[in-house]
Amino acid sequence: MLNKVEEIKEALKSATANSQDELEQFRMQYISKKSVVNDLFGKFKDVPNDQKKEFGAKLNELKQEVQEKFKELIAHLESSSSTGGSSSEIDMTLPAGGQSIGSIHPLTATRNRIVEIFERIGFNVSEGPEIEDDFHNFTALNFPENHPAREMQDTFFIEKNPDIALRTHTSSVQVRVMESQEPPMRTLSPGRVFRNEAISARAHCIFHQVEGLYVDENVSFADLKQTLFHFAKEMFGKDTKIRFRPSYFPFTEPSAEIDISCNICKGKGCNICKYSGWVEIGGSGMVDTNVLENCGIDSEKYTGFAFGMGIERIAMLKYQINDLRLFTENDIRFLKQFSRL
Ligand code: DAH
Repeated sequence: MLNKVEEIKEALKSATANSQDELEQFRMQYISKKSVVNDLFGKFKDVPNDQKKEFGAKLNELKQEVQEKFKELIAHLESSSSTGGSSSEIDMTLPAGGQSIGSIHPLTATRNRIVEIFERIGFNVSEGPEIEDDFHNFTALNFPENHPAREMQDTFFIEKNPDIALRTHTSSVQVRVMESQEPPMRTLSPGRVFRNEAISARAHCIFHQVEGLYVDENVSFADLKQTLFHFAKEMFGKDTKIRFRPSYFPFTEPSAEIDISCNICKGKGCNICKYSGWVEIGGSGMVDTNVLENCGIDSEKYTGFAFGMGIERIAMLKYQINDLRLFTENDIRFLKQFSRL
């Protein structure tokens, strides 16, 4: 019996309570009616008379110690919770709270995919300035001064210097590449462009294009067609069809607009393709000999093709987005839908 008292005293020394639950456990174990201490008091009557005095004193001593320890534990718990909570309330075994990390913007993902497709067939990537001079944005591309073709693109000019503008297309980059390199050249120029247009579901004053240029000996319109056909199938699926519609651009001759079979209705007709089964993705053509010469390339020896496509347009078709403004509003509910790209 005395041994039991000593045992309990020993256990008390190392008892701790780092939470209300543990404190309650302590109370149940040492203080409550069902506690080991109370149990010993119950057994007091069985102790031989000659030992009762000693045992009684020990029991009272134990009870005292239990009370003291209990007060100590309460005080400890209170002080630790006032300094920011006890450590045992942080359950280290719980899984870490999810952290939402950013995701790739659908336009970036589309741009990357376009670049990847063309890189595999030998195109490199080149970039140029967003603030351009008249020569690179217009003159070198065969837009004569005061020519009405300049009005095809509503330009943001810098008021104090009409020679400087925000580039209206990435075609300015093909000029820079041709000026600074020797054929053969196969390059892709993705980038931001600017036009003075009212913002709506279908138009924006800031958007993105990707320009392609291939200059070498004997480059033909068949090369252009096959290259873009390859791109369309890689981007939108192997059943995608492509068609070229004759068009006009000052910098290409002949010129064509590129349509792909509508990947939303698979050519059957829907409101995205205006029930025609076809959607336009950009313009293209054989680089005009004037443009080659303006950039110092011998047009007798070399020919080239060029194309320009809207990245927003391609992303809208790929992900079935029907409002251009969604790309720039940064609404988390929109962006979240692309977190796996
Ligand atoms: N620069 C034209 C535009 O912004 C697109 C374009 C058409 C680019 C034909 C080209 C091309 O390289 O060959 O509307």
